[in-house]
Amino acid sequence: MMQLLSGKALSKVIIEEVKEEVIALIAAGKKPPHLAAILVGNDGASETYVGHKVKMCEQVGFQSSLIRLAADISEAALLEEIAQLNNNPDIDGFIVQLPLPKHIDVDKVTLAIDYRKDVDGFHPINMGKMAQNMPCFLPATPYGIMQLLERNGVETSGKECVVIGRSNIVGTPMSILLSRNNQPGNCTVTLCHSRTKDLLAHTQRADILVVALGKAEFVTADMVKEGAVVIDVGITRVPDASKKRGYRLAGDVKFDEVAPKCSFITPVPGGVGPMTVTSLLMNTLKAAKNKISYQEEV
Ligand code: GUN
Repeated sequence: MMQLLSGKALSKVIIEEVKEEVIALIAAGKKPPHLAAILVGNDGASETYVGHKVKMCEQVGFQSSLIRLAADISEAALLEEIAQLNNNPDIDGFIVQLPLPKHIDVDKVTLAIDYRKDVDGFHPINMGKMAQNMPCFLPATPYGIMQLLERNGVETSGKECVVIGRSNIVGTPMSILLSRNNQPGNCTVTLCHSRTKDLLAHTQRADILVVALGKAEFVTADMVKEGAVVIDVGITRVPDASKKRGYRLAGDVKFDEVAPKCSFITPVPGGVGPMTVTSLLMNTLKAAKNKISYQEEV
């Protein structure tokens, strides 16, 4: 029997948990967590994502600040904005929405963020801590996927896991998280990418298949083992004249033909997507609680 891993349903549960914690913080005389987001330019998808992040902050009782910067802002000016957020004691955590315009070096931006406020978990200090199983901020999408696996009781220990895609924000951290000696985790992980020879041979062996390459409907039924767990991270806008907005959202997996073979599968939309925002909320709450505990130490 195929079961849906619904991020839509789980995110509602987590949002309630976060709300409760905010109420408890305020009852203890603390201020609510405060997340800031920097949005450079006006890319359509980024606008949607950031708008959603801000809206969800309001829903759980966080403060939020959206900092909009022109697409032609200089790298130096963006780094200055980041320095201000690092030094602003009112801000618990912040993100710089990606992608950035080509004239800005994303590595410099990532390194400029104070790792204690890096609620996207992209800073190498957080990535390094993650790899060594130390407390840290996990990147939103991988954190959300781990929550989906854990809270739906998906067994991972000893499983063959194949990750397709090696991005810094999804594929690479997923491969690390699933291989760690943790629960979920303890998989034997293969990280496949554009230079992989015979991808089919790899995917057909996967007990858990994480697909994060950003190609609409790339994974077909023949690529998937009977009973596999399939996690679809893709969300691509495919032109569709029959839709009012002119596009439909497609995952990286051909859901209709793959789903019947699966033990668990995430739908698109409503699977991984909603979990990414809840991860950001969980990280921001953690950043605020960490800050309270530093302050109580001094
Ligand atoms: N662009 C796509 N995913 C993300 C994310 O998790 N965080 C940020 N800042 N930008 C993104």
